[in-house]
Amino acid sequence: MDHTVYLDYAATTPVDQRVLDAMMPYFRDRYGNANSLYELGRDAYRTLEDARARVAKSIGAAQPNEIIFTSGGTESDNTALIGLATAGGRSSGHIIVSAFEHHAVLEPAEWLGKHGFEITELAPHPDGLIHAEDLKAAMREDTVLVSVMHGNNEIGTIQPLRALADIAHAGGALLHTDAAQTLGKIDFDVDELGIDAASFSSHKIYGPKGFGALYLRKGTRLVPYMMGGGQESKRRSGTQNIPGAVGFATALEIMDAERETEVPRLAALRDRVVEGVLGRLELTSLNAAETDTRLPHIANFIIKGVEGEAMLLHLDAKGIAISTGSACSSGSLKPSHVLLAIGCPQEFAHGSLRVSMGRYTTEEDVDYFVDELVPVVERLRSMSPLYAKIRAAHAAG
Ligand SMILES: Cc1ncc(COP(=O)(O)O)c(C=O)c1O
Repeated sequence: MDHTVYLDYAATTPVDQRVLDAMMPYFRDRYGNANSLYELGRDAYRTLEDARARVAKSIGAAQPNEIIFTSGGTESDNTALIGLATAGGRSSGHIIVSAFEHHAVLEPAEWLGKHGFEITELAPHPDGLIHAEDLKAAMREDTVLVSVMHGNNEIGTIQPLRALADIAHAGGALLHTDAAQTLGKIDFDVDELGIDAASFSSHKIYGPKGFGALYLRKGTRLVPYMMGGGQESKRRSGTQNIPGAVGFATALEIMDAERETEVPRLAALRDRVVEGVLGRLELTSLNAAETDTRLPHIANFIIKGVEGEAMLLHLDAKGIAISTGSACSSGSLKPSHVLLAIGCPQEFAHGSLRVSMGRYTTEEDVDYFVDELVPVVERLRSMSPLYAKIRAAHAAG
């Protein structure tokens, strides 16, 4: 293989050529500031509002003003958590987040926990789902906000948002969802899901990095996270990124137009990977395998007796870009909080591998990955005293 086999589309995606073409005029020719009153500025303003209307239409928002453009999923999550919790001058209350949220939700929740709010982390089940009855039990009279992600970025399970939103609303709380991994990839309609706020990221859908949006249902109060010039109807200050808005809207429309054919194509590739890995390697499993409601392009494996980072580096040497749940930060190898949350034992959580596919993934890529993975795992296992023990335990039943 003379090119990179990229199997990390959940981390980021390349900008689609059609998206880039749509963005280009706004860097040098139509570069106005959307807040300037002369024609160059008015042109930028019209372009920005057109992009906002296109995004609103895609997600079934009642009006374009419900879309706030941001610098990405992280900013949207921080804005939603802190801005919704503290709306109306509130300085205390109860907030529920799922335990397997992205850190862009967990960390602002933790911050709120240190600044007057009480936080409950709701554990998902081994099926990779937050169960409605658990949310019901966790709700309190003073619960003001529930944040549960739509599709999990590591294991790909899709949460029952409608049921969760109904429970949150019955208790007088708002429901925010981090939809960075689902927007464009599966049907997404804010009314069908019943949500009050949602975070989106452009670079997960073949749009530019550093751009995203927050959907905020009309009438929902929010304290702005970014203060300054009062752009985005005073909800997010900062000169708007016009190429970003055009790129994001275009990327989303392409996702919408191609979804019907792309979803079954990706699901077939995912099934091919799963069959290949589980069929050719013993003592491997698919995380949250029992759940049908899952993203079509993500498969997360536990490969017992092997370190995820070792697999990643060996596969990198073969031109394969892939991700593991273990993150080696400041010298300590930390297993994924998502895998631990769904009950995966720590020793196995270290051996996780996430395959995430996308627009340019082919069957040839998938077969190359499986063909290269098998000898890598066999070699690493042959050197692992841990694997010998796991195998002996397994044989003993
Ligand atoms: C679920 C989820 N939320 C938030 C983010 C952060 O988005 P961004 O990279 O646009 O800040 C990501 C991306 O890593 C994600 O997967």
